[in-house]
Amino acid sequence: MAGEADDGVVCVIGAGYVGLVTAAGLAERGREVRVVEVDPERRAAVSAGRAPIHEPGLDQVLSAVVGAGRLRAVESMGEGVAGAGIVIVAVGTPPTADGEADLTQVHAAVDAAVEHATPRAVVAIKSTVPPGTTRSLARRCRREDLAFVMFPEFLREGSALEDIRNPSRVVVGGDDPAAVGRVAALLGDPDTPRLLCDSVSAELIKYGSNAFLATKISFINEMAQLCELTGADVETVADGMGLDPRIGRSFLSAGLGWGGSCFPKDVRALETSAGYHGQSFWLLKAAIEVNSQQRRRFTAKLLHGLGGSLEGRRIAILGLAFKPFTDDMRQAPAVDVIHQLEDLGAEVVATDPVALEPARPLLPRTTLVGDPYAAVTDADAVGLVTEWPDYRDLDWGRVLGLMRGRLVVDGRNCLDGASIAGHGGAYLSVGRRPRGLPRVLPGAAGEAVAAGVPPLPLG
Ligand code: UDX
Ligand code: UDX
Repeated sequence: MAGEADDGVVCVIGAGYVGLVTAAGLAERGREVRVVEVDPERRAAVSAGRAPIHEPGLDQVLSAVVGAGRLRAVESMGEGVAGAGIVIVAVGTPPTADGEADLTQVHAAVDAAVEHATPRAVVAIKSTVPPGTTRSLARRCRREDLAFVMFPEFLREGSALEDIRNPSRVVVGGDDPAAVGRVAALLGDPDTPRLLCDSVSAELIKYGSNAFLATKISFINEMAQLCELTGADVETVADGMGLDPRIGRSFLSAGLGWGGSCFPKDVRALETSAGYHGQSFWLLKAAIEVNSQQRRRFTAKLLHGLGGSLEGRRIAILGLAFKPFTDDMRQAPAVDVIHQLEDLGAEVVATDPVALEPARPLLPRTTLVGDPYAAVTDADAVGLVTEWPDYRDLDWGRVLGLMRGRLVVDGRNCLDGASIAGHGGAYLSVGRRPRGLPRVLPGAAGEAVAAGVPPLPLG
């Protein structure tokens, strides 16, 4: 084991969305960073100064810090941790079948790291792990000369570099205050709020933050349903609620609900973990149910908007990634919706500016095209799933000219319904009144949708 642990040298295990952005951010701040990554393709990309994931600005930072020799990707754990004062663990914690966080990767990475780590190094867990995990990892490790802390991340995909450069807060939890302080010094500037605490509280700050934001979204989605029943406008309601600083407007955007690599797995893992401690976390159970209902309501609007059957219907889906500015398809609402539409007999043509290849293995029955105008050609209806600006800025007159039908269902309330109606379209969104409907839709389906209360056919 190499000489003294030097905090100027940081090892990051896992070059995923979190590990790579963290590594790039630390190298940009002048640390010497080694990224240990098992995947040879990811390693090769990083060594070439290229980001193996779509994250705005990451390519530029990587090529700069790799070019300056401040960041390198390695395979061997021994090489990665040699002399490093801080070893950050950012490997995956995917959900198990019953919703628990699978710690296999974390255990494997930590076991390999502690075998070679330099005395007095700090192992900082950045992967999201259930309460008590950091302490149990410290107990598992038979070395007294290493410290363990929980170092949760709060990076949002699509704006992760901004979040690592200007974190809203730095949270580090552990039983060794000196080790906690060393890790807390890695990020932020003197004005950045820092919360230094015990590791279990830090683990629950992470879960609590994600679960609260997810619950906030499910709350506004429930309000959206009531808006459809009462004729109110959910965007106006959210604006009004959000003016109260105790509530805030962020994360009050109604729509298809939350997806991605974090909210779905963290909300379930927290609910499951509470269960192991004998607690029924009712709020989370409800937030999860409301979230999956939002997908079904979107599908039902297309089904009823097209007269109650999708057999032989062609539907264009705009947006696949779980949110804009990323290519991440993990728990993307588009996959649920498209599977529901195809199960109902529809032919689906889908498009996305960057996520077509990551989406392909998940959507074997779907036609994937790069050009949104090609996607909407001869479509009976268009469904917007991801609020990429590309789709807001489409020439909707041209879109309606290319379509066979007139129905546009906006799952993210990001399109201009009045202009679409102005082009003769029938526009439905979430928690807002329909536009341009009566003229277009025949029979009961029209009334059902006009009333904005589509029955839910899907189980
Ligand atoms: C990860 C965790 O999954 C999440 O809980 C936490 O909140 C943030 O960090 P993410 O970065 O999105 O999220 O994970 P992922 O994209 O799966 O990246 C993990 C990386 O670790 C992958 O590149 C994988 O190849 C690598 N890995 C995994 C290793 O290098 N070694 C291992 O032993 C296991
Ligand atoms: C989230 C957390 O924000 C971040 O702090 C944590 O570290 C990782 O998980 P991310 O998964 O990148 O980040 O996405 P985020 O921007 O939080 O959105 C999560 C989901 O909620 C997306 O599917 C998004 O479309 C949805 N969402 C977000 C809404 O439906 N309405 C909103 O108002 C905000």
